[in-house]
Order: sequence, then structure tokens, then C-alpha cells
Amino acid sequence: MKHFVTGLIAAAVLATGAQAQQKIVVGHALSPTSHYGVGAQAFIDTLTELSGGTFTGEQAPAGQLGGERDMIEGLQIGSLDLVVTSTGPLGNFVPEVFALDLPFLFRDYDHARKTLDGEIGQELLAKIGENNLVGLAWSENGFRHVTNSQRPVRTPADLAGLKLRTMENKVHMTAFSGMGASPTPMAFPELFTALQQGVVDGQENPVTVITASKFWEVQKHVSLTGHVYSPAVVLASPVLFDGLTDEQKGWFMEAAKASAAATRAEVNRLEEAGVALLRENGMEVITDIDKAPFAALAESSYSVYTDQYGTEMVDRIKAVE
Ligand code: PAF
Repeated sequence: MKHFVTGLIAAAVLATGAQAQQKIVVGHALSPTSHYGVGAQAFIDTLTELSGGTFTGEQAPAGQLGGERDMIEGLQIGSLDLVVTSTGPLGNFVPEVFALDLPFLFRDYDHARKTLDGEIGQELLAKIGENNLVGLAWSENGFRHVTNSQRPVRTPADLAGLKLRTMENKVHMTAFSGMGASPTPMAFPELFTALQQGVVDGQENPVTVITASKFWEVQKHVSLTGHVYSPAVVLASPVLFDGLTDEQKGWFMEAAKASAAATRAEVNRLEEAGVALLRENGMEVITDIDKAPFAALAESSYSVYTDQYGTEMVDRIKAVE
């Protein structure tokens, strides 16, 4: 129903004098001031400017249009226009993308961004395009860290028995089972209440998300495990995109690039300032994590991808300098 109503709004083409205006709704899971919000607004502003006001836009933030999986489905059926989403649920639609979700694969932000901005990123955007979605540009969520309400996590033994919310992503779930936690997949809009009510003990997300969601209200400990890089992507509905002229498609691509650049800049800023904010708000931040034992236990999750596609893509990603 939500999708239907939004689709109607999105599809509304308002005749203003001689010029038709179309409003694009940009859905995402976080607040309007988060790194996704900043990126969504950059998309809207750039598109409005490039199109001379033919296209305008507005954000539908904070999971108003559903969880990320729901929003991707909405794009496929054409009830949503545009979404900024993590790759969390995307592998369920485009399994090749699971390659990007493998734990301890990317060395640092530079490695991840170079991979996504290069040949590999383009290939994966093309794969997205074969699955009834339009991948406009790779954006960013950030390196993910574990938070929980029970105890400081320093070693995999500390994860034992922790009910940890994961994204609906079988690579991540297998990795956390391997590391000893009890993974509980859940859509993000349900997470805060689940943490508050003790349905789950913890969750994992980048500093960007932990701060934007004020998880300090429901979580005591954060361990900077950086166990996986979480890419985001600007996706459009093929129902919308295929109906555009080539010039209009160019504007959308440019706007998506501007969105990704703005989001990455905000990730950079929050990576610097965010940890202090977590401490100021009473979280215990564990920084001295030896990642090697976590990585060894998470290794079993690679087969989720490599059993189907082999190791070539993993090797290519590792080789990006
Ligand atoms: O944990 C998730 O589901 C994602 O990281 C989030 C917060 C929705 C951002 O893409």
C-alpha cells in the first residue's frame, strides 16, 4: 500500500505552464542529516540544477517506505523511484554482489573506493542492471563494527551466545555463526525497538549509522571490529529510468555521482568525529581489536559466494592497489 501511494506521488507530473515538472522521491533508511540523507539531498539538488527544475525531489528518510529489501522490491515493480541502500539485502536480488559483502576483504576505505570506482564496480553495476534494477553509482555506508548491551567484545570468545542482529544477508549470517555469535536477521526499521526490548543483544553497523541512530540509548559497548566494508548504491527503478531521454539519463547519472561523493565526504567526517561522539554519549569504545582470529573464523562465509562463482572476483578485489 505504502508503495502504491508513493508511486502515485512519484509519478505525478505537474503541469506548470509550458513546462512539466516531475518530483523524484529518494527513499533511504536513515535520518535526513545522516550520510545517506546528505547524499539523497545532493542527488535532488544536482538533478534539479542540471534539469533546470524539470525534475525536483524530496527525501523519504528513516525507512518511511519500508526496510531496504522492501524498497528494492518497490523499485523493481515501479512503485518507488530511487533508493540509496546498503548492499545488505541486494545479494538476494543480484547474487554476484555478495562478493562485496565478504568479511575482512577490503583493507581500508581507499581500497574499497578504488574497487567500486574501477572496472569491478562497473561490472557489478551492469549485473544489477540485468536484474530489473538500475545501478546508478556506488555510494558508501562504511566499515561495520559490533555493538552490544552485555559485555565488551575483544575476542571471538566474547561473541559466544550473543544474539546479534545482522542484515538479511547470508554472507554476514554465516560469518557471524563462524565467529560464535547467534545471528538474527532483521530489517533495520525494527532494530531499535528490538535492542530496547532485549529481543537481540547487539547489532553491527558503521560509526555513521551508530551515531545517526543514537544507539547509545540502547547499547553500552562498541568494538571497532571493522569486520566488513558496507558499500551503498544509488538505485533507480527501471520503470522510471527506461522512460527517460538520453539527456535525462545523463542528469540522473551525474546526480548519483554527486550523491555518492557527498555521502563519502560525510563518512570521512564521521569516521573522524564519530568515535568521540560515541564516548561522549556514554559508550565504552574498544579500539585495540586483534582482527586475525575474527577473520580466521569468518573465512567459512567466503564459500557462500565462491561455491557459485569461484575465487576469481575475490582475487581481483584483493589485487586492487
Ligand atoms: O544495518 C543495516 O541494515 C544498514 O547498514 C542500514 C543502517 C539500513 C544502512 O544501509
